[in-house]
Amino acid sequence: MNDIPTSAVSYRHLLGIEGLSPSEISEILDLADEYVAQNRRVDKKRSILGGRTQINLFFETSTRTRTSFELAGKRLGADVINMTATASAIKKGETLIDTAATLNAMHPDSLVVRHPHSGAVALLSQKMDCSVINAGDGSHEHPTQALLDALTIRRRLGRLDGLTVAICGDILHSRVARSNILLLGIMGARLRAIAPPTLLPGAMDRMGVEVFHDMAEGLAGADIVMMLRLQNERMNGAYVPSTREYYHFYGLDQDKLAKAKPEALIMHPGPMNRGVEIDSELADDINRSVIREQVEMGVAVRMAVLDLLSRRPSNQPPVGPNTDET
Ligand code: CP
Repeated sequence: MNDIPTSAVSYRHLLGIEGLSPSEISEILDLADEYVAQNRRVDKKRSILGGRTQINLFFETSTRTRTSFELAGKRLGADVINMTATASAIKKGETLIDTAATLNAMHPDSLVVRHPHSGAVALLSQKMDCSVINAGDGSHEHPTQALLDALTIRRRLGRLDGLTVAICGDILHSRVARSNILLLGIMGARLRAIAPPTLLPGAMDRMGVEVFHDMAEGLAGADIVMMLRLQNERMNGAYVPSTREYYHFYGLDQDKLAKAKPEALIMHPGPMNRGVEIDSELADDINRSVIREQVEMGVAVRMAVLDLLSRRPSNQPPVGPNTDET
């Protein structure tokens, strides 16, 4: 049996950033920092999740999230199973709830889920005895993306509080934006949203976010420039006149970036559309862009989340905001 240290983690699932405290977020980031160091060594494996089973259930495409959750589980010694909707009995008409009940009967220890519908992962978590981790649900939340973004920023700039973070692009459809706004707000950052009116949700001011429709104004003095993809798969109809016009007004290029702080970092969760939301040379600029670093941090953050959730004794009743049983 593994000698697993205890943790302050009080939640059973990680369904979103909403409800996490600053100390819970810091605990995940601190542990992830240790896993960054481990992942840079030749021997990357530990056995802390030895004997445990992790199922990755993806109803949407993914490169970064699915691969890094698989790597994370394997580097901690878990048995990892990958399932996609197209290769499951969902294709034969099985419901989400029946799929959950079926998987639950196999006694997994964690279930990592991506689903196109907001709230689907929370619904699934109510049917599972194991920890459920949201790997992105519709336009609702993508908590581990926000955590890896925070880790990237904290390692580069040493803090999150007091930084000015400009989130630019398709905020309306973005679960990445929502989770980042929640997390960075909890940790004391100053938040700006820059987008055309058609790509902004209504409640930005209630979330403590300053809204801009002009890139030059919104980027002025920013520490972090976080670009977002136009999420066409979540759009019914046209939200922008053309991608060419969108790039002209909202694509990040050298002229627009010059309004931000000289040392401002460029971020993008990926996948990126070069020449639509970001200039290709800027995306690859090793002095300004931390896009590859974000991917590296993704593995470490997911190891930290899997590790911390596994420390919660299985016989302890579920408590906290990320569970249905409070
Ligand atoms: N950032 C992100 O979620 O990327 P994937 O869709 O490739 O997982």
